[in-house]
Amino acid sequence: MRRSLVAALLAGLGVSTSVASAASTGVIELPRAKFATGDDMARARADFDDSKWAELSTTLNFEKQGFEDYDGYAWYRIHVRIPSSLKSSVKWAERLRIYLSSIDDVDETFLNGVKIGAMGQMPGDPRGYATRWNGLREYDVGVSSGLVRWDEDNVIAIRLYDGSGGGGFYRDMPTLRLAEIVEGFKPDTGKTRYDYAGPIVKASVHWANSFPVAMQGRLDQEVFDADSGKVLSRGSRGVAVAPNSGIDLPVQAPQRAGIEVRYTFTEAKTGAVGRSVLNLPYLLTPAESARPRINGATVLGARPGSPIYYRLPATGRSPLKLGARDLPAGLAFDPAQGVISGRVAMAGEYRITLTASNALGEAQRVLTLIVGDMLALTPPMGWNSWNVYGLAVDAAKVRAVADAMVSTGLAAHGWTYVNIDDGWESAQRNADGSIGTNSKFPDMKALSDDLHAKGLRFGIYSSPGPLTCGRFLGSLGHERQDADTWASWGVDYLKYDLCSYETTNLPKNPSVADHRKPYEIMGKALAAQSRDIVFSLCQYGSADVWNWGREVGGSLWRTTGDIEDSWRLVREIMEAQVKSAPFAGPGRWNDPDMLVVGEVGWGGELHPTRITPDEQYTHISYWSLLAAPLLLGNDLTRLDAFTRNLLVNDEVMAVNQDPLGRAARKAWSGDGWEIWERELADGRKAVGVFNFGEAFRSLKIAGRVPELTAGVALRDLWRQKDLAALSEGFEARVPAHGVLLLAVGKGR
Ligand code: GAL
Repeated sequence: MRRSLVAALLAGLGVSTSVASAASTGVIELPRAKFATGDDMARARADFDDSKWAELSTTLNFEKQGFEDYDGYAWYRIHVRIPSSLKSSVKWAERLRIYLSSIDDVDETFLNGVKIGAMGQMPGDPRGYATRWNGLREYDVGVSSGLVRWDEDNVIAIRLYDGSGGGGFYRDMPTLRLAEIVEGFKPDTGKTRYDYAGPIVKASVHWANSFPVAMQGRLDQEVFDADSGKVLSRGSRGVAVAPNSGIDLPVQAPQRAGIEVRYTFTEAKTGAVGRSVLNLPYLLTPAESARPRINGATVLGARPGSPIYYRLPATGRSPLKLGARDLPAGLAFDPAQGVISGRVAMAGEYRITLTASNALGEAQRVLTLIVGDMLALTPPMGWNSWNVYGLAVDAAKVRAVADAMVSTGLAAHGWTYVNIDDGWESAQRNADGSIGTNSKFPDMKALSDDLHAKGLRFGIYSSPGPLTCGRFLGSLGHERQDADTWASWGVDYLKYDLCSYETTNLPKNPSVADHRKPYEIMGKALAAQSRDIVFSLCQYGSADVWNWGREVGGSLWRTTGDIEDSWRLVREIMEAQVKSAPFAGPGRWNDPDMLVVGEVGWGGELHPTRITPDEQYTHISYWSLLAAPLLLGNDLTRLDAFTRNLLVNDEVMAVNQDPLGRAARKAWSGDGWEIWERELADGRKAVGVFNFGEAFRSLKIAGRVPELTAGVALRDLWRQKDLAALSEGFEARVPAHGVLLLAVGKGR
C-alpha cells in the first residue's frame, strides 16, 4: 500500500497532517535502484560507474530479488533527473525532501557524493551495531546548498548494512519532492500536556517549528465532535515562531470519544496552508477506588521445588496492609514488600487467601497455586526492552523501568515481568564456552536479585542460531550451558528468537521437524533447570507453531512478524490471529507481539506511539480478548496519564488474565464491523464490538451472535459500568478504529 508521504511522516499520537498543494503533484517516485553487495566509499560519488550493477525494485527486500541470504554491506544507487519545474509545485522551493521509506537495517545516504542522512549504527561504529530497520528515512537537503543538479542526473547513493532479515528497502515507494514551508510546523504530541481532571480535558498543545526559518502566520482551530458531527468551538490567532523552536497553545474540549482539534495554519509569506488533526485522548478507566482491592491473576503455576516470587497486586488508599494466609509449607510472606517467596516441594493445588485492608475495609481473594508441570497459567504481563530501547538497552534502564513498574502502580495491577531483549550479550564466549554479558550489564545476578526482591520476574533473550537478530552471540551449540548460566543468574523467562538459525541451519524447504528441532533442544535445557523459566518461542509463526509449541516446552509463541506503532500493522496482526486463536489455553499462548502504547523508539529517539487513542483502546481490548501476553514496550519512567489509565483497568485486565484461558473468536463481521467474543470462567462472555470504519458510527448488536439476545445483562468494561439490559434497539456507538468492550450475561 502506498501511503501519502505527508500522512506517513507526520502522523503522531492522534495527529495527522496534510498539505494543500504538494502532496498530489510534484512528487517523483523512485521505484528502481542499482544495487551491489560489498562496500566501497567511492560508490557514494555521482560519477561512479554502476552500469554493471543489478537493477532492483525499491519496494522489496534485495533478498527477494536474487540476493538470497545475503547479510552484510551493500549499496543502492538511485539515478534521478530532478526537473526545475518541480519548483512551481510549491510556494516555497527551499527544501528538497527525499523519502526512503525503511531500510533493513542501517543506512548512510549521500546526494551527489555528499552525506545527507543516516539511521542506525554500522558494525564499525564505536558505539556498536544498532539496527533501525523500521525507522522512516526522510532526509532534507536545503536547495540553497547547491547540491541539487536541476534538470540533470542526480545520484542518491545509499550505503547500507543488513544484519539479518530481508535486507534493504521493503516498505513503500521512496520519493522525492519539495517540502512546503508549513510542513515544518505541526503539533508535537510528545511535548503536549493534558489535564484530564473533570469532564473537560485541558491541553497545552506544543507546536514545533522544525525548520531553520521563522514561521509566521495564522492558526485557525476548530474543536470538532465526530460523534455529533458538530463543530463545538472555533478560534483563530496569529503565531510567530523562531527557527527550530516551538510554542504551547492551550485548548479545552469535552473529555470523551470523538473529539478532534482541527487546525489550519496559513503561512504569511507564502500563503501555503497546512492542516493537522489532533485526536484528543480521553480517559475511560475510572479513578482507583480508595477501598482495598486485590488485582491480577487468580492462578499461579510453578514446578515442585522451584523458587517462587509473587508480588501481591493490590490497590487502595494507604496505609494498605497486605496479608497471605494458608501458605503451603516452604512459602513465606513479607508484609513490608507484599511478596510471597519460597519453594513448594510437593505437587498439588494450594488455595492461598490474600488480604488487603485499610481504614475503609478489607478485601480478600483466593490465589490458587498449582504446583505441577505448567507455567504461565495466564498470559505473562510485564515489559520488554525492545520496542523502546532496541539494542541500546542497559542495566540502569532496566532497573529504572522496574522501579517505575512499582512506583507508577502498574505492579499493583498485575504487571510483573521485566524482560531484557537483544543486546546484553558479550562479544565472545568465555574460555569455558559460557556466555557473559557486555559492559552495559556489569552484574546480571545483582540485577535479577533486585527485581526478585520487588517480587518482579526477570526475562532474557537469545537465539538458537550462531547470532541473534542484533548480531550478538546466539546459543547454537551451547544451549545447555546457556540455560545453566541463565538459571544461575535467576532468569525466569526466555525469549528465543530464530534470527540467524533461519539462514545458517534451517534447510531450504524445512519440515515441521526442522522447525521444532532448535526449540526442542532449548526446551529440554530449560526443563532441566531447578528453577522455572517460561519459554517464549519467537519464530514469527512459521510451521504453524501453535500446533507444536507446547510440545517443545513453550508456554507462548509469536504468531507474526514484528509489530510497529502503525494502525496498518496492528490491524494486519489482528486479522492474522483467526487461525491460531483456538489453540490458546493455560500454559500455551499465542503471542501477536508486544504492545505499542506510550513512548516507544526501538533504540532511536523516543516518540509517543503513532496510533490514536481509540486505536490504543482497540489494541489493549483485542490483546485481552485474545488472551495474548501483555508485554509493554514503552519507557515506563515516562508514563503519561493516558497510557497509565489504559493499563490499570482491572476489569479489562481480568479478561486477559481469565483463568479459563480461552481466546476470543471472530463471531460476526460486516461493513467494517467485527464482533469478537470470549468465554470467561465465571460463565459470562467478553465481547468486543470493533469499528474498523473511518467514521464514528452505530451498530445494532442484538441478535448478531447468539449470546447477544435481548434482555441479557451488559457491562461496559472500560467504563466499569453496568448498562441497561440489551434491548432490540440497542446501538453500540463506537468511534472510528475504536471498540466497545462488554461483559455479557450475569455470571456465577
Ligand atoms: C526480532 C524480534 C524482535 C526483537 C529483535 C531483536 O527478530 O522479532 O521482537 O527481539 O529481533 O533483535
